[in-house]
Amino acid sequence: MRSKAPSSNRRDAPFFLYGRRLGHRLSPQQQLLLAERLPTLAVPEVAPGAGADPGTWFAPPCREVWLEVGFGAGEHLLAQAAANPTVGLVGCEPYVNGVASLLGLLGDDLAGRVRVLMGDARPLLLALADASLARVFVLFPDPWPKRRHAKRRFFSGPVVAALARVLRPGGELRLATDAGAYAREALLAIRQSGSFRWQAGSAADWRLRPADWPATRYEAKALAAGRNPVYLRFRRE
Ligand SMILES: C[S@@+](CC[C@H](N)C(=O)[O-])C[C@H]1O[C@@H](n2cnc3c(N)ncnc32)[C@H](O)[C@@H]1O
Repeated sequence: MRSKAPSSNRRDAPFFLYGRRLGHRLSPQQQLLLAERLPTLAVPEVAPGAGADPGTWFAPPCREVWLEVGFGAGEHLLAQAAANPTVGLVGCEPYVNGVASLLGLLGDDLAGRVRVLMGDARPLLLALADASLARVFVLFPDPWPKRRHAKRRFFSGPVVAALARVLRPGGELRLATDAGAYAREALLAIRQSGSFRWQAGSAADWRLRPADWPATRYEAKALAAGRNPVYLRFRRE
């Protein structure tokens, strides 16, 4: 987890985003990527309630769209784009250095199927049309372990309801975390929504990362620190 200080969002904004927006100084090359490449890949401005169809954001349009919330440095998103040539990938990440990293790694061959929102995923969820996504990834969301920071955690009843609305029936929600309390809380919120079925038949199903689930930087950090992540898959009913 990064800084405890709130980001520069206004406190009266509908969503307040905690966590760091900018890390180490950007290189001139990264600044150029953000200034010139990001606008060509950016998610269009869409207002909450717009009923936006993300399939139309790609060239050519994609029939199936997957969303990654908090893609960090972008390695998982890019690996999924490379492995799934008919899918459009939308990534949301407020951490500027992470976005710069993804832009630096993104080859021209994948650029037509990747769209980026440098910001909070929650307003975007409210702007998307019902059943417009086939898969959502939330990999190692900031755990905010202190009780007084509980409201900062990404999973909450309203967010789970928004995820249920934008995922199509049969779609999949994937969540990874190395924080046991976070996993329990998210499982509860997801079960209480009544919209998802947990795809776990045995302990191996959540203890082992599936083969079609590329590793992330944060996962490597967790393993190096001796923490065991869980990999949770839920099917939208
Ligand atoms: C612990 S990092 C994990 C990054 C990456 N998924 C990984 O596994 O390496 C959590 C990320 O979620 C991002 N994040 C936090 N709140 C978010 C939100 N509301 N919408 C989108 N991303 C968010 C943070 O900026 C941070 O990069």
